[in-house]
Amino acid sequence: MRVLVTGDRGYIGAVLVPFFQAAGHDVVGLDAGWYDGCDFGAPPTDYEQRTGDVRDARPEDLEGFDAVVHLAAVSNDPIGDLIASATYSVNADGAVHMAQVAKQAGVPRFLFSSSCSLYGAAGDGPVAEDADFHPVTPYGESKVRAEAGISALADDTFSPVYLRNATAYGSSPRLRADIVVNNLTGAAVTRGEVRLQSDGSPWRPLVHIEDISRAFLAALTADRDKIHNQAFNVGCDADVVQIRTIAERVAEVTSCPVTFAEGAGPDKRDYQVDFSKITAVLPDFAPQWSVPRGIDELYADMTERGLSSDEFERRFVRLAQVRELMDSGRLDEQLHMTAAPDVVATP
Ligand SMILES: NC(=O)c1ccc[n+]([C@@H]2O[C@H](COP(=O)([O-])OP(=O)(O)OC[C@H]3O[C@@H](n4cnc5c(N)ncnc54)[C@H](O)[C@@H]3O)[C@@H](O)[C@H]2O)c1
Repeated sequence: MRVLVTGDRGYIGAVLVPFFQAAGHDVVGLDAGWYDGCDFGAPPTDYEQRTGDVRDARPEDLEGFDAVVHLAAVSNDPIGDLIASATYSVNADGAVHMAQVAKQAGVPRFLFSSSCSLYGAAGDGPVAEDADFHPVTPYGESKVRAEAGISALADDTFSPVYLRNATAYGSSPRLRADIVVNNLTGAAVTRGEVRLQSDGSPWRPLVHIEDISRAFLAALTADRDKIHNQAFNVGCDADVVQIRTIAERVAEVTSCPVTFAEGAGPDKRDYQVDFSKITAVLPDFAPQWSVPRGIDELYADMTERGLSSDEFERRFVRLAQVRELMDSGRLDEQLHMTAAPDVVATP
């Protein structure tokens, strides 16, 4: 299949693109390039990469594609909290615009990268796809708005799918240091301690980025009646773990102590997710990773490459990079690029 992947130059995209290519698909990327040069390895380059903003996409840009995988977004709560209106512009309006032009161009399938964070304050018990949404951040709210707007476009010719990912982990050429498993492992490598901001009691649903890629691949090729306008939680029960368990495993692998930030207490973001639907409906999604193996992978890559404090604290932190692009005038207040970012050569 010929697939347009937006956000192909980000953390998940840099792993998903080669994964799709290995499965025989022809991939074209579309990305604004916010993290160009923020490299933790050589990002894939052996495919057509278009530089542009999804909010400017036109139907003629999407002609001839069999599917769109829409990853491009303001990808976390801290940026969303900093600039909520831009988060809605990119994540909600931009996603719905992308779906509209895809439909106009006759693209039959649209895979939207959503998030379990749209469930928000979900209460007790694991949340399934039909749970109510109680997002607690602009980021979570932006995913709710995007799903609603895209869903209104579903018809006989256009099948959107909402893949609600758990929090990702794993090594990528465009590594992120601001997500929990990567962060705790990177803290051990660069600071010699596994520093917890809470008492470590909360439960977190996690998923390796290669398993996210597996879920998208399964949704790409599944029969239409199984996926048409359907939402799927993406993750697995074995990867729903307490932060404390992640920290203890990182400490074991790196021989660094677990420490607690001043005032570390209970964290109210504590929720669990039900993954039975994706397992039942998309049997090709068979997760192959686990958090302990992911920590081994991250630790090996971080030590082999010599992860620096600057990379860990700034270059691989999405909020820090977006702030720098804004401060230097290369991103405007609505997060439109005004100039290409400086590309920093990696050793
Ligand atoms: N990483 C996670 O833990 C996680 C969990 C759940 C959902 N998701 C979702 O998966 C998707 C990808 O996440 P990620 O971790 O790879 O994020 P990322 O920040 O690493 O990558 C996002 C990419 O999108 C691009 N982009 C942003 N706005 C754009 C625009 N307006 N036009 C074109 N390109 C634009 C950026 O340049 C970047 O390359 C996002 O939609 C995110 O919300 C991620």
